[in-house]
Amino acid sequence: MSLIDKLDHNRLPCHIAVIMDGNGRWAKARGLSRGEGHREGVGAIRKVVEAASKASVQYLTLYAFSTENWSRPSEEVDGLMDLMVYAITRETADLKKNGVRIAYIGDMERLPENVCAALQECIRETAGGERLTLVLALSYSSKWEIAEATRKITSDVTKGIIQEKDINEDTISRYLTTRDLPDPDLLIRTGGEQRISNFLLWQCAYAEFYFTDTFWPDFGEEELYEAILNYQGRERRFGKISEQI
Ligand code: IPE
Ligand code: IPE
Ligand code: MG
Repeated sequence: MSLIDKLDHNRLPCHIAVIMDGNGRWAKARGLSRGEGHREGVGAIRKVVEAASKASVQYLTLYAFSTENWSRPSEEVDGLMDLMVYAITRETADLKKNGVRIAYIGDMERLPENVCAALQECIRETAGGERLTLVLALSYSSKWEIAEATRKITSDVTKGIIQEKDINEDTISRYLTTRDLPDPDLLIRTGGEQRISNFLLWQCAYAEFYFTDTFWPDFGEEELYEAILNYQGRERRFGKISEQI
């Protein structure tokens, strides 16, 4: 029996964000190259996107490459960029067929031109998808995003587009790259580390965190449902007390 049958469909997380970690260690344990770990990781993405869609999750955000990841050895960075182009191009038709809309968060200016082009083509092609929004966080970091938002807010105050007195939490949310997305309900990190690595710091203010030792290439459909089941066993109080919920 699949764990999907155990999910409470009235209490599904609307938005799941995932820190896909452990590709390198997965490969190392098998005597393979880190690149092979990343290639295997793409297979896990396919499985998890399908599973999320099957479980009627509406938004899935995947942390694929952080601002800090630019500091990795150049062969690994180049290999990852080539893999992105290959995977995005290959998957576009299926994503479209399955009603998956692709969205992007991150610093596109740092991405190589072929990655930008593949991404933009995929975003255009899948724009009509209504089943699941799949957000790719690529060359993304939360501190970068918050600094960008601060610069834009300051500039708009100077231009008189917004008033300083009107700046509140909603204003900040509207200037982040995630402006069109609800905040994540559930944040999953694979690979055993229990840290957030500069991912969605503002947006995860009230997310439920789920850490698993499973390396990303081994994470699949049932592992996703297990994480959702764990989430459904929690009480989200948002500062209130149990009796108020
Ligand atoms: C996550 O796996 C993928 C990216 C960060 C691009 P890692 O490459 O970080 O794998 P580990 O942590 O070295 O095992
Ligand atoms: C976080 O993984 C970034 C992504 C999964 C894209 P890392 O493996 O880069 O994180 P740290 O540096 O170990 O915290
Ligand atoms: Mg890692």
